[in-house]
Amino acid sequence: MKKPLFLLALCFLLAACGGQSGDETAGSSTPPQSMIEEPEPSIAEGKGIGEVENVELTEPLDEDMIEMGEAIYQMKCAACHKLTDQRVVGPGWAGITNKRKPEWIMNMVTNVDVMLAEDPEAQKLLEECLTRMPNQNVSIGDARAILEFMRKNDVEKAGERDQAVEES
Ligand code: HEC
Repeated sequence: MKKPLFLLALCFLLAACGGQSGDETAGSSTPPQSMIEEPEPSIAEGKGIGEVENVELTEPLDEDMIEMGEAIYQMKCAACHKLTDQRVVGPGWAGITNKRKPEWIMNMVTNVDVMLAEDPEAQKLLEECLTRMPNQNVSIGDARAILEFMRKNDVEKAGERDQAVEES
Protein backbone atom coordinates (compact mmCIF):
# COMPACT_ATOMS: atom_id res chain seq x y z
CA MET A 1 0.00 0.00 0.00
CA LYS A 2 2.92 2.43 0.15
CA LYS A 3 3.82 2.57 -3.54
CA PRO A 4 1.06 4.88 -4.86
CA LEU A 5 1.88 7.51 -2.21
CA PHE A 6 5.51 7.51 -3.25
CA LEU A 7 4.56 8.01 -6.91
CA LEU A 8 2.25 10.86 -5.98
CA ALA A 9 5.08 12.59 -4.10
CA LEU A 10 7.36 12.18 -7.10
CA CYS A 11 4.78 13.85 -9.32
CA PHE A 12 4.64 16.92 -7.06
CA LEU A 13 8.41 17.20 -7.06
CA LEU A 14 8.65 17.09 -10.85
CA ALA A 15 5.86 19.63 -11.24
CA ALA A 16 7.54 22.04 -8.85
CA CYS A 17 10.86 21.90 -10.69
CA GLY A 18 9.24 22.26 -14.12
CA GLY A 19 7.77 25.65 -13.32
CA GLN A 20 11.08 27.40 -12.84
CA SER A 21 12.89 27.07 -16.15
CA GLY A 22 12.77 29.44 -19.12
CA ASP A 23 13.24 33.04 -17.96
CA GLU A 24 16.98 33.35 -17.72
CA THR A 25 17.86 33.98 -21.42
CA ALA A 26 15.34 36.71 -22.24
CA GLY A 27 16.09 40.42 -22.53
CA SER A 28 19.86 40.71 -22.57
CA SER A 29 20.85 40.81 -26.27
CA THR A 30 19.06 43.89 -27.79
CA PRO A 31 21.38 46.91 -28.28
CA PRO A 32 20.45 50.14 -26.49
CA GLN A 33 18.16 52.39 -28.58
CA SER A 34 20.59 55.32 -28.47
CA MET A 35 23.13 53.45 -30.57
CA ILE A 36 20.85 53.15 -33.59
CA GLU A 37 21.14 56.25 -35.77
CA GLU A 38 17.80 57.56 -37.01
CA PRO A 39 17.74 59.81 -40.10
CA GLU A 40 15.99 63.16 -39.51
CA PRO A 41 12.29 62.60 -40.30
CA SER A 42 12.10 66.13 -41.78
CA ILE A 43 14.41 65.06 -44.64
CA ALA A 44 11.97 62.38 -45.73
CA GLU A 45 9.15 64.95 -45.72
CA GLY A 46 11.13 67.21 -48.05
CA LYS A 47 11.50 69.89 -45.39
CA GLY A 48 15.27 69.73 -45.05
CA ILE A 49 17.08 70.16 -41.75
CA GLY A 50 17.13 73.16 -39.47
CA GLU A 51 15.11 75.47 -37.26
CA VAL A 52 12.28 75.89 -39.73
CA GLU A 53 9.76 73.09 -39.18
CA ASN A 54 6.48 74.59 -40.25
CA VAL A 55 5.74 77.60 -42.46
CA GLU A 56 2.23 79.01 -42.75
CA LEU A 57 1.88 80.49 -46.23
CA THR A 58 -0.22 83.65 -46.24
CA GLU A 59 -2.82 84.63 -48.84
CA PRO A 60 -2.67 87.00 -50.58
CA LEU A 61 1.04 87.66 -50.88
CA ASP A 62 2.44 90.15 -48.37
CA GLU A 63 3.70 93.21 -50.23
CA ASP A 64 5.94 94.44 -47.41
CA MET A 65 7.72 91.08 -47.18
CA ILE A 66 8.11 90.97 -50.97
CA GLU A 67 9.78 94.38 -50.94
CA MET A 68 12.12 93.40 -48.14
CA GLY A 69 12.88 90.05 -49.78
CA GLU A 70 13.72 91.72 -53.06
CA ALA A 71 16.11 94.13 -51.35
CA ILE A 72 17.92 91.24 -49.64
CA TYR A 73 18.01 89.35 -52.93
CA GLN A 74 19.67 92.29 -54.72
CA MET A 75 22.21 92.68 -51.95
CA LYS A 76 23.12 89.09 -51.06
CA CYS A 77 21.87 86.62 -53.67
CA ALA A 78 21.71 88.18 -57.15
CA ALA A 79 25.39 87.61 -57.83
CA CYS A 80 24.75 83.85 -57.97
CA HIS A 81 21.00 83.41 -58.57
CA LYS A 82 18.93 84.65 -61.50
CA LEU A 83 15.17 85.06 -61.29
CA THR A 84 14.70 83.04 -64.48
CA ASP A 85 15.41 79.31 -64.70
CA GLN A 86 18.92 79.97 -65.93
CA ARG A 87 21.80 78.79 -63.73
CA VAL A 88 24.68 81.15 -63.04
CA VAL A 89 26.69 80.03 -60.03
CA GLY A 90 23.61 78.63 -58.31
CA PRO A 91 20.31 77.49 -59.87
CA GLY A 92 17.87 80.10 -61.23
CA TRP A 93 14.89 80.66 -58.96
CA ALA A 94 12.00 80.47 -61.44
CA GLY A 95 9.56 77.81 -60.26
CA ILE A 96 11.39 77.07 -57.03
CA THR A 97 8.25 77.17 -54.83
CA ASN A 98 6.66 74.59 -57.13
CA LYS A 99 9.58 72.24 -56.59
CA ARG A 100 10.63 72.77 -52.97
CA LYS A 101 8.63 73.06 -49.78
CA PRO A 102 8.84 76.42 -48.00
CA GLU A 103 10.52 74.79 -44.99
CA TRP A 104 13.21 73.30 -47.26
CA ILE A 105 13.88 76.66 -48.93
CA MET A 106 14.16 78.50 -45.61
CA ASN A 107 16.39 75.81 -44.08
CA MET A 108 18.61 75.89 -47.17
CA VAL A 109 19.02 79.66 -46.78
CA THR A 110 19.54 79.73 -43.00
CA ASN A 111 21.32 76.40 -42.43
CA VAL A 112 23.22 75.80 -45.65
CA ASP A 113 26.25 73.98 -44.22
CA VAL A 114 24.17 71.28 -42.53
CA MET A 115 21.90 71.02 -45.57
CA LEU A 116 24.86 70.45 -47.87
CA ALA A 117 26.26 67.86 -45.49
CA GLU A 118 23.07 65.89 -44.87
CA ASP A 119 20.15 66.65 -47.17
CA PRO A 120 20.14 64.50 -50.35
CA GLU A 121 18.42 67.16 -52.50
CA ALA A 122 20.91 69.85 -51.47
CA GLN A 123 23.75 67.43 -52.19
CA LYS A 124 22.42 66.83 -55.70
CA LEU A 125 22.52 70.57 -56.36
CA LEU A 126 26.08 70.75 -55.11
CA GLU A 127 27.04 68.00 -57.55
CA GLU A 128 25.46 69.96 -60.40
CA CYS A 129 26.80 73.39 -59.47
CA LEU A 130 30.22 72.36 -58.10
CA THR A 131 30.31 75.42 -55.84
CA ARG A 132 29.22 75.52 -52.23
CA MET A 133 26.68 78.17 -51.43
CA PRO A 134 28.26 80.26 -48.65
CA ASN A 135 26.54 80.79 -45.31
CA GLN A 136 25.43 84.41 -45.34
CA ASN A 137 23.96 84.72 -41.87
CA VAL A 138 20.42 85.23 -43.07
CA SER A 139 17.92 85.44 -40.19
CA ILE A 140 14.72 83.38 -40.18
CA GLY A 141 12.71 86.58 -40.70
CA ASP A 142 14.81 87.60 -43.69
CA ALA A 143 14.55 84.09 -45.15
CA ARG A 144 10.75 84.31 -44.84
CA ALA A 145 10.80 87.63 -46.72
CA ILE A 146 12.96 86.09 -49.46
CA LEU A 147 10.48 83.18 -49.70
CA GLU A 148 7.64 85.68 -50.26
CA PHE A 149 9.67 87.35 -52.99
CA MET A 150 10.23 83.90 -54.59
CA ARG A 151 6.48 83.24 -54.50
CA LYS A 152 5.83 86.47 -56.36
CA ASN A 153 8.62 85.71 -58.82
CA ASP A 154 7.07 82.29 -59.51
CA VAL A 155 3.72 83.83 -60.46
CA GLU A 156 5.54 85.99 -63.01
CA LYS A 157 8.09 83.46 -64.32
CA ALA A 158 6.35 80.09 -63.92
CA GLY A 159 2.68 81.08 -63.99
CA GLU A 160 1.94 79.40 -60.64
CA ARG A 161 3.36 79.20 -57.14
CA ASP A 162 3.45 76.98 -54.02
CA GLN A 163 2.80 73.77 -55.96
CA ALA A 164 5.28 71.85 -53.79
CA VAL A 165 2.85 72.35 -50.90
CA GLU A 166 -0.37 71.54 -52.78
CA GLU A 167 1.06 68.21 -53.95
CA SER A 168 1.57 66.65 -50.56
C1 HEC B 1 28.39 82.63 -54.06
C2 HEC B 1 27.22 82.20 -54.75
C3 HEC B 1 25.90 82.16 -54.00
C4 HEC B 1 25.27 83.16 -53.30
C5 HEC B 1 25.79 84.57 -53.03
C6 HEC B 1 23.99 82.63 -52.89
N1 HEC B 1 23.85 81.35 -53.32
FE1 HEC B 1 22.22 80.17 -53.09
N2 HEC B 1 23.14 78.65 -54.04
C7 HEC B 1 24.41 78.71 -54.57
C8 HEC B 1 24.75 77.40 -55.10
C9 HEC B 1 26.07 77.05 -55.77
C10 HEC B 1 23.64 76.57 -54.86
C11 HEC B 1 23.50 75.08 -55.17
C12 HEC B 1 23.91 74.29 -53.93
C13 HEC B 1 25.42 74.28 -53.76
O1 HEC B 1 26.13 73.92 -54.71
O2 HEC B 1 25.89 74.69 -52.67
C14 HEC B 1 22.65 77.41 -54.22
C15 HEC B 1 21.38 76.94 -53.89
C16 HEC B 1 20.39 77.73 -53.34
C17 HEC B 1 19.03 77.31 -53.15
C18 HEC B 1 18.41 76.00 -53.60
C19 HEC B 1 18.04 76.18 -55.05
C20 HEC B 1 17.17 75.11 -55.65
O3 HEC B 1 17.05 75.08 -56.89
O4 HEC B 1 16.60 74.31 -54.91
C21 HEC B 1 18.38 78.36 -52.56
C22 HEC B 1 16.93 78.40 -52.13
C23 HEC B 1 19.34 79.42 -52.39
N3 HEC B 1 20.55 79.01 -52.90
C24 HEC B 1 19.05 80.63 -51.83
C25 HEC B 1 19.97 81.68 -51.72
C26 HEC B 1 19.65 82.95 -51.10
C27 HEC B 1 18.33 83.32 -50.49
C28 HEC B 1 20.77 83.73 -51.21
C29 HEC B 1 20.97 85.14 -50.70
C30 HEC B 1 20.68 85.39 -49.32
C31 HEC B 1 21.78 82.92 -51.89
N4 HEC B 1 21.26 81.69 -52.17
C32 HEC B 1 23.06 83.35 -52.17
C33 HEC B 1 25.23 79.80 -54.61
C34 HEC B 1 24.98 81.02 -54.00
